Amino acid sequence: MTNTLNLIPEPVSVETGTGTFVMTNATPLVCGDGCQKAGAFAANVLQLKQDAGSNSGAVSLKLVAGSTTAEGYTLSVTPEAINIVASDEAGLFHGIQTLRQLLPAEHVAQRSADAEIPAVTINDYPKFSWRAVHLDVCRHFFDVTFVKKYIDLLAFHKMNIFHWHLTEDQGWRVEIDAYPKLTEVSAWRESTPIPENRTVQDGKPYGGFYTKDDIREVVAYADSLGITVLPEIELPGHTIAVLAAYPELGCVGEGYKVRTEWGIEDDVFCAGNDEVFVFLEKVFDEILELFPSEYIHIGGDECPKVRWEKCHKCQARMEEEELHDEEELQSWFIGKIGNYLHNKGRKMIGWDEILEGGLPEGAAVASWRGTEGGITAAKQGHEVVMCPVTHCYFDYYQSEDRENEPPAFYYEIPKEQQEQWGMTFVGLLPMKKVYEFDPLVGVPEEYHSFVVGGQSNLWSEYIPTSQQAEYQAYPRGAAIAETLWSPMPDSGRDFDAFIGRLSHHLKRLDALGVNYRFPKEHIDQ
Ligand code: ACM
Ligand code: ZN
Repeated sequence: MTNTLNLIPEPVSVETGTGTFVMTNATPLVCGDGCQKAGAFAANVLQLKQDAGSNSGAVSLKLVAGSTTAEGYTLSVTPEAINIVASDEAGLFHGIQTLRQLLPAEHVAQRSADAEIPAVTINDYPKFSWRAVHLDVCRHFFDVTFVKKYIDLLAFHKMNIFHWHLTEDQGWRVEIDAYPKLTEVSAWRESTPIPENRTVQDGKPYGGFYTKDDIREVVAYADSLGITVLPEIELPGHTIAVLAAYPELGCVGEGYKVRTEWGIEDDVFCAGNDEVFVFLEKVFDEILELFPSEYIHIGGDECPKVRWEKCHKCQARMEEEELHDEEELQSWFIGKIGNYLHNKGRKMIGWDEILEGGLPEGAAVASWRGTEGGITAAKQGHEVVMCPVTHCYFDYYQSEDRENEPPAFYYEIPKEQQEQWGMTFVGLLPMKKVYEFDPLVGVPEEYHSFVVGGQSNLWSEYIPTSQQAEYQAYPRGAAIAETLWSPMPDSGRDFDAFIGRLSHHLKRLDALGVNYRFPKEHIDQ
């Protein structure tokens, strides 16, 4: 399919017409029943007034049951009118996002003068239903203003989930009324490694958190763009910041502080202490009140078992529950939380370590250590989100020329472990590699339906500023958006064609004020 519209992600079908529609301040916006949210968004970005009476020369949004598949839309532009029809409001939002991209680039943030829009008919729908963009706000904290801009950008690329990584060893970032010390103590650390060298500390106190009003503001904002906010509350590992405030919840019971180094912490929740579950249930009660998301992310990654092995309470729990090893204890722990969430009408998702010791019933898996975990989970009939480090880790370098890049995640694998890992280092993810992402690779066809999609992950150890976050996130974010939305052509994805469209799309990102990395390997400056 060739056209000159330079849309990203590329729609399923585009038929160009003749002539243009001229959008002016006098163009009425007509919104059908159930289109209020999408109508408000269109009115804002297109700078149009809603008009209940008029129907000519109009931009019209209409919900028609059965007209499209989930999140799909039809956008038709003629010299006389623009019509967006969908069977759900998400589809209307996507249609409006496409319409924004049809405007001259300088109008993308908000139409600011009369604008010509080329005549076209677009039929479009997503390849995958789970298209998430993750942000770690714990290693470094990002304020509400930036989080809202980040959500604007993911919505602009037709991604549909904002995965908010809210708790970590290095900081707890969400206000919980039942446990005030989570924001008085757990949200603050004494020092931070400098981006240039993780073994050197800056010696400066650092922290921050979102109040409940902040969270409500972000969730409402995301909803006004048709985006779901997926909160992540880590357990049983990545939790020493909690233990610093409530030491009785750890196996040793004392001597904890909010972690000031990157990497994995040995101290985790004690699986033998009932108080831990009282704590988690109260925390989740407040989280569920703040976040309407059907899925709740419980982390589950990188939980060392060294404390559990030596803890008499953990060992007693294993005996009582007839668990054979610490992996089964982890599975029991996560299953208990999964049950709690299930009884509240929610679904649990966790990183692929939750497979260890047996996958709790009904749990969805985010496969990050490659795709093997995801494939195993799909074969067991569980929903799977693919986000392997090989294609989805946006904290990695974008170019081999590390000298001329800002510091990013990079790890040389020790010689003796290289064979086991099958590589010599991790920390390089060029945009071209992102564009090769296909969540279905290696998944036997009969299990494809369990793979609901994929996501990018942006861990923030090396990302001290929002400018840097945008630099890491784009334009790789445009590449992954296309892999998750657009159909896979029989001949495979055409990177050169993508780059051709991207060179125009970067002008849109300029208009949106995004500090993306210019892909100088592919586009002349
Ligand atoms: C992860 O990157 N630890 C999920
Ligand atoms: Zn214990």
